[in-house]
Amino acid sequence: MTEKLYHNKFAPLYDYFQHGVKGDVNFYLNYFKNFIGKILEIGAGTGRITIPLLKQGLNVTALDIAPKMLEILKEKAQKENLTVRTVCADMRRFELRKRFDAIIITFRAFQDMYLVDDQLRALKTIKKHLKPNGILIFDVYTPSFEYIQKGNWQWHKDQDINLPSLKGKVRIDYRNCYDMARQMMNQEYRFSYPGGRKEIIPLRMRFFFRFETEHLLRLTGLKVKNLYGDFSKSKFKSGSPEMIWVVSPKRK
Ligand SMILES: C[S@@+](CC[C@H](N)C(=O)[O-])C[C@H]1O[C@@H](n2cnc3c(N)ncnc32)[C@H](O)[C@@H]1O
Repeated sequence: MTEKLYHNKFAPLYDYFQHGVKGDVNFYLNYFKNFIGKILEIGAGTGRITIPLLKQGLNVTALDIAPKMLEILKEKAQKENLTVRTVCADMRRFELRKRFDAIIITFRAFQDMYLVDDQLRALKTIKKHLKPNGILIFDVYTPSFEYIQKGNWQWHKDQDINLPSLKGKVRIDYRNCYDMARQMMNQEYRFSYPGGRKEIIPLRMRFFFRFETEHLLRLTGLKVKNLYGDFSKSKFKSGSPEMIWVVSPKRK
């Protein structure tokens, strides 16, 4: 489902309308300043975070399930004369036969793990690829009751964008609603092109609560080192928009 979504429709549009979470690129650049180990980025997509990390001289392997997203990443790396190893694989079941000093799951890619089984499988697979003193960093958004209440499947304007292949602006609207029983946000983006053509792209995301995430980590042998509430490293508190988890394998 996710693979098809990002492969077929999202990939060519992604860089023109998805800009990540405020401060995320700088957070990773600062976190890995002078870092000499090997980094695996999961859900690397078109390289919004990968490319700046590579430019900083870091050793990054970019893994993603969607070949089209990775194609764009490789083109961007090539243009900048950067070397990147890409792996097209599912975070729930990959086998790279090596361990990394750091693994990062960027821009909420973990929220594509809809079922508890998916989440546990992904975390176990990731742990297998971490060195004993390695770290895993990932971010998920904090469910906001205000947003959940507003999620009434009515269209709202998101933004106007320019695409290099088109004259005139493309208007993007979105609508969402929340399935509280499954902890799923169901969303649609509507692209209205000059000339009248419309395209609707669905997007689903699992949302996580704090202690649910802690339990998942505990079940998979991962220990929480830090939990930040935003990318400027504020302590996680009531009202924090994001959960940024920094975890490491539990010592036996
Ligand atoms: C929101 S995008 C983030 C892309 C990029 N990290 C960024 O910051 O812009 C989520 C990415 O996760 C990837 N993804 C979704 N499910 C995945 C899975 N099961 N295994 C690996 N990657 C997955 C998607 O293909 C997509 O590129």
